[in-house]
Amino acid sequence: MGDRATKVDDLKAEAARAAVELVKPRMRLGLGTGSTAYHFVEAVGELVANGLEVLCVPTSEATRAHAEKLHIPLSTLDETPQLDLTVDGADEIDDQLRLIKGGGGALLREKIVATASARMVVIADDSKLSETLGSHPLPVEVVRFGLAATMRLIEALSAEAGCEGEIRLRPGQGDLPFVTDQGNLIVDCAFHAIPEPEVLAFALKRVPGVVEHGLFLGLADLAIVAGSDGVKAIRRPGA
Ligand code: A5P
Repeated sequence: MGDRATKVDDLKAEAARAAVELVKPRMRLGLGTGSTAYHFVEAVGELVANGLEVLCVPTSEATRAHAEKLHIPLSTLDETPQLDLTVDGADEIDDQLRLIKGGGGALLREKIVATASARMVVIADDSKLSETLGSHPLPVEVVRFGLAATMRLIEALSAEAGCEGEIRLRPGQGDLPFVTDQGNLIVDCAFHAIPEPEVLAFALKRVPGVVEHGLFLGLADLAIVAGSDGVKAIRRPGA
């Protein structure tokens, strides 16, 4: 890892360590996915090794594997449909705590788990803060059937919602597309700016081939953001 990358990773770890202070005995926890959530899972693993009792639901197979390695007690939303707290990373965060997620392709399970939680806390380094969402391409999970028609409709309805830009199928290994844990595909929409995230979210939900999109609106209550000047907590206005 280069110097900058190491620094950013240190900030991610700092945010995760601050979030772990919110974990209380016997909590039912949602475990996020990605390089920031990785540090949170590590920290929970440490608490569990020291005797803390928690029950966790992972948001991806990658996080499940990581948590299993650390002997974190795991459950599913079928067994444990209501969670106390989910801690997850984000690709972009605005000042109303609206998020873009799904850079790692886990947005569907992440949204299901966050929605099943009484609280969602986002952890990030401060490069994720953004005035207007859209500098990170918006991931949209789609079914395979009718892909070209789905992409066309995403483009048309997004344009009506004030968002235009390149819409491309996320590549995977070799010539194959990236496949999510649910067996779906991801379309990345490089809109550069999303002036009205709620309007775009509503438009995307009108596309039958869209399973879910990476706009997390009204879900995160608190963001714990680490920067060179320390860790700050940003609350969602009205939360
Ligand atoms: C996974 O699908 C994503 O939603 C991640 O939570 C998000 O991309 C943040 O990942 P990093 O913490 O690796 O930046």
